[in-house]
Amino acid sequence: MSSVVPSTRGETLAATLEPITVGTSPLGKRAERGDLLADAMLASPYRQLDTSNNYAEGESERLLGAAIRRRGGLPADKVIFSKVDADPVTGVLDADRVRRSFDETRERLGLDTLPLLHFHDPYMLEVTDAMAPGGPVSALIALRDEGAVGAIGIAAGKRSLMEEYVRTDAFDAVLNHNRWTLVDRSADTLWNLATERRMTVFNAAPFGGGILAGSTTRGPKYAYSEASRDLLQFIDRLEALAGEWGIELAAAAVQFSLADPRIHSTVVGMSSIARLESLPGLVSAEIPDGFWEGFRALGTPPASPAA
Ligand SMILES: NC(=O)c1ccc[n+]([C@@H]2O[C@H](COP(=O)([O-])OP(=O)(O)OC[C@H]3O[C@@H](n4cnc5c(N)ncnc54)[C@H](OP(=O)(O)O)[C@@H]3O)[C@@H](O)[C@H]2O)c1
Repeated sequence: MSSVVPSTRGETLAATLEPITVGTSPLGKRAERGDLLADAMLASPYRQLDTSNNYAEGESERLLGAAIRRRGGLPADKVIFSKVDADPVTGVLDADRVRRSFDETRERLGLDTLPLLHFHDPYMLEVTDAMAPGGPVSALIALRDEGAVGAIGIAAGKRSLMEEYVRTDAFDAVLNHNRWTLVDRSADTLWNLATERRMTVFNAAPFGGGILAGSTTRGPKYAYSEASRDLLQFIDRLEALAGEWGIELAAAAVQFSLADPRIHSTVVGMSSIARLESLPGLVSAEIPDGFWEGFRALGTPPASPAA
């Protein structure tokens, strides 16, 4: 008999998901007009948008909400997932803050309910405190019981913390980032733990924040941190291999995540309309077997800065 608690809500949500979720953390941060990008996200072929209370200090949700209002409501073919965040002034993430964070999200988006709300980056808390009666996770569970949200998720980076949260069996979904890419496979155990529980699995940041798509915006960083020389050399070898096979490394990066059956949706950060328009081509690009053979021959990547 299985010792884990399967999440029927996780399974139900996963069944509705399309392979790509548009990541909106860059929305509101760039020079390009955010209103136009938000409009383009709502008009795009992609069904799911991932935002958070704290992306661009709330601007990501505000821009999405304004775009929703311009269209007279959320288009029937779109869903928005958001996350509760600590108070930006005090850093507190308790049960009251969970309620306030969600109320802010609802007001900005102009939506009463969401299909999924994540507990976001709770690095300031011990898992036992977060899970205690009257604690922040109990407030999330209450929102789900009240029908304000369809499902609840845990969304963060640090592997050991994520595994601990998943083992609580309290969540329906998990979102982890930068740890299942061409150069980092460290989310393997996390994906297995989530799969055993039939949770919905989101793999975010398949480009490691941009570097695996050839972006130079963040400089020589992987997972938002300085990459080692060894890792940069490994990425150079990947780029050379992609060049030999006449493909874009970005296409291989996104398809690496799409190919894993444990992952229900891959969350790709979209910083501009041009990036959004290039995504279908990356998803559908033909990647020759020879590229993947060469990729496997490169062996285990050097350690990434993502712990
Ligand atoms: N804790 C969490 O819950 C958490 C953490 C991380 C991410 N996420 C979610 O996952 C999403 C994705 O993460 P991410 O945006 O940090 O990383 P990512 O998806 O690995 O990389 C996105 C960046 O790659 C670059 N890019 C995109 N398409 C490209 C293309 N065709 N060619 C070249 N460069 C391209 C863009 O940067 P430039 O335009 O600057 O070049 C873009 O901002 C986020 O938006 C967010 O929704 C959640």
